[in-house]
Amino acid sequence: MINLDLEKLPRHIAIIMDGNGRWAQRHTLGRISGHKKGAEAVRVAVRTCREIGIQYLTLYAFSVENWIRPPEEVNALMDLLEEYLRSETTEMIKNNIRLATIGNVDALRDSIKNLLLDIMEKTAKNNRLILNLALSYGGRDEIVEAVRKIIGDCRTNKITPAELTKDSFSSYLYTAHMPDPDLLIRTSGEYRLSNFLLWQMAYTEFYFTDILWPDFKKEDLLKAIADYQQRERRYGLTSDQLHRDYNK
Ligand code: IPE
Ligand code: IPE
Ligand code: MG
Repeated sequence: MINLDLEKLPRHIAIIMDGNGRWAQRHTLGRISGHKKGAEAVRVAVRTCREIGIQYLTLYAFSVENWIRPPEEVNALMDLLEEYLRSETTEMIKNNIRLATIGNVDALRDSIKNLLLDIMEKTAKNNRLILNLALSYGGRDEIVEAVRKIIGDCRTNKITPAELTKDSFSSYLYTAHMPDPDLLIRTSGEYRLSNFLLWQMAYTEFYFTDILWPDFKKEDLLKAIADYQQRERRYGLTSDQLHRDYNK
């Protein structure tokens, strides 16, 4: 039994869902079968977050670098994404889940773009869980795009360079209006960010596990959250400062 402190849940969990290909290899299956199995693990993670009351779940589903994988694999991933979205629309509406996306969504095929728009519209008023899909996402691209918009706004005098702050900079990112992730989980024993949420993860707690994404179960997610709850987030302060009783 994993005991969670429901008062200390991470508000925003981000996951790098890695290891589908290796899972398939271990089961002597093709990589696409690994991605299919991975989609099942997505359903479990979303359901679990909704049940326990996580507010934001950001899933790294497809990176901007993933476009250069073999075309058959890219196509299969897009087919699976489309299938996932179609099959989950009703559940999202029913379960009070709001769909959001980050990334260069324009690069996706029209049928997926339309589907995303449709679901986002249908779930716009939902507020139990925000399911944020990172699609054709790249952290550096996001930052460059933000800078481009800021330069544009400077030219039209909407903002002056002196007015730019860390907070106003954040509002130019895809994640404007979302809190930074509290917890990042990466599966499959890789210890890197792979261009994910570079700006937003300045103070995120990292959790790495060897489990391959298709094998990542509800208990594994709860375990990661329990581990997070043992951490002390100091943000540069000393531990004493954090525990000092300011009322005295
Ligand atoms: C993650 O699994 C899914 C995507 C990147 C889309 P991988 O496909 O990267 O699996 P491995 O890393 O090859 O095992
Ligand atoms: C990161 O996984 C992207 C996603 C999970 C969508 P990759 O498997 O693409 O990362 P690298 O290439 O091993 O760093
Ligand atoms: Mg990988």
